[in-house]
Amino acid sequence: MTQKYVKAVISDTPDEAALPVLEGALGPSAVDIQTLYARYGLLAYDPGFRSTASCKSAITFVDGDNGVLLYRGYPIEELAEHSDFVEVAYLLMNGELPTPEQRKTFDLLIGQSNLLHEQIMNFFRGFRRDAHPMAVMVGVVGALSAFYHDVMDIRNPEDRMLAAVRLIAKMPMIAAASYTYSTGRPQRYPNNRLDYSSNVLQMMFGQPNDDYPVDPVVARALDRILILHADHEQNASTSTVRLAASSGANPFACISAGIASLWGPAHGGANEAVLKMLMEIGSVDNIPKAIARAKDKNDSFRLMGFGHRIYKNFDPRSRVIQKSTHEVLSHLGIHDPLLEIAMRLEEIALKDDYFVERKLYPNVDFYSGILLRAMGFPMNMFTAIFALARTAGWVSHWLELQQESHGIDRPRQLYVGKAKRKLPTKK
Ligand code: CMC
Repeated sequence: MTQKYVKAVISDTPDEAALPVLEGALGPSAVDIQTLYARYGLLAYDPGFRSTASCKSAITFVDGDNGVLLYRGYPIEELAEHSDFVEVAYLLMNGELPTPEQRKTFDLLIGQSNLLHEQIMNFFRGFRRDAHPMAVMVGVVGALSAFYHDVMDIRNPEDRMLAAVRLIAKMPMIAAASYTYSTGRPQRYPNNRLDYSSNVLQMMFGQPNDDYPVDPVVARALDRILILHADHEQNASTSTVRLAASSGANPFACISAGIASLWGPAHGGANEAVLKMLMEIGSVDNIPKAIARAKDKNDSFRLMGFGHRIYKNFDPRSRVIQKSTHEVLSHLGIHDPLLEIAMRLEEIALKDDYFVERKLYPNVDFYSGILLRAMGFPMNMFTAIFALARTAGWVSHWLELQQESHGIDRPRQLYVGKAKRKLPTKK
C-alpha cells in the first residue's frame, strides 16, 4: 500500500477544507477534528493521546515546559503554602475559593457525610487480611454505588453536589479502614472537632480505647500532600472517570474506576515503586549501577519517580514535597538513609546526558514516599493516600462533565486485524 499524506495548513481564512482551530485560555490551541470523519472519512490516530485534547476543562492548567500547575488559576505552590485541602477541594469543585460562610457550610456537610453505613464495614471483612489497600478501595468505593443509586438523580445539580461531597467526606474512613482491617485493629470513627487531615491520621493510627494526639506538623504536611495530589487535569485516572461518567454511570462506580487506573506503577503507584527502588539500590555506592540499568534499552528497569508525560521540566509539586520532607524528617528527628540515596540519585541523574536530553526530571512521587513513610504510613498505603487526595479532582471533573452535552465518549480505532473471511467448513 502506498503511504498517503495529509497536508495541514494553518490559515486565517476558512475554506471548505478547513478545520477550525480552538483557542484555550492558556496553553496550546487545538484543531477541532469533530467533523473529520463525516467530511473526509478519516480518523485521527493518536495512541496514548499525546496530541489529543479529549475535552474542554476549566479546572486545572499544566504547562509542562515551564513547570507550572494552576488550580482554577491559582499556582500550586501558593495553595500548598496558604490554603488547606478542604478549601482546595471546594475551589476545584466550584471554581472559586469559599467565603467564610460557604466554608462553614462545606465543613458542616463533610461532617454530616463522613461516616460509612455500618453495612459497608462488612465489605472490608470480605477481603483477605493481606489484600492491597487499593484493591480494597476499588471494591468498597464501587460498593457504595449500591447504597446511593436509586435515591440519587444525577440530572439534579443538588444531588450531584451531594454525591461529590459524600465521596470527599467518606474517603478518609475508607482509606483508613483498608489499612486497619489488615492489622486487625478496630476502626475509629471521624471526629468532627478535627480538621480533615488530622482525621485521616487519627483514623489510620489511633486506637478506639485511647486518645490519639495528632502532631500538627505531620497533619499540615499530610494536608500539603493532599493539596499537591488533588488534581492534574486529564491524566489516566481522571480520563477514566470522565469516560465512565460519559455513559451516565453512578458517580461512586466512576470514582472506583478512577482508583483502579491510578493504582498502576506508571501513575499513582509510582510513589510505592520509588521507595521499593530506593531500598533495592540500598546504598549511594550502587547508584551508578541503577542509572546504567535505567539507560539500558534491554532492561525494563526505569528510574521510578523520574519523568512525566507532560512535565519536561521540574514538576512544581516535587519541589514542595522535597522541602516538606526535610521539614518533617527534621521535626521528627528521623535520619532516613533512603533520603540520602534519593538526593544523590537526583543530583547524578540531573547531570546525566540521557536524562537531560529526554528532559526527565523528578516528579511528585520521587520524595512523597519518603515523606509518607516518615509519617508512619506503610508502603502499600501510599497510593491509597494519593487516591484520597485525587478524589477532589475526580469529583470536580465528574461535576464538570455533567454540564457537557456531547454524549457518551466513544473512541474509534485503526483496525489492523483480518479482513472479512469465510469460516472454514468443519470436517
Ligand atoms: N527512567 C528511564 N528512562 C525513562 C524514564 C525513566 N523513569 N521515563 C522515560 N524514560 C525514557 C523512555 O525510555 C524514552 O526513551 P527513548 O526516547 O530512548 O525511547 C523517553 O524517556 C521518553 O519516555 P516515554 O515513555 O515516551 O515517556 P512517557 O511520557 O510515555 O512516560 C512516564 C511518562 C511517567 C510513564 C515515564 O516517565 C515513567 O515511566 N516514569 C517512571 C514512573 C513514574 O515515576 N510515574 C509517575 C508519574 S507522576 C505521577 C502521576 O502523574 O501519576
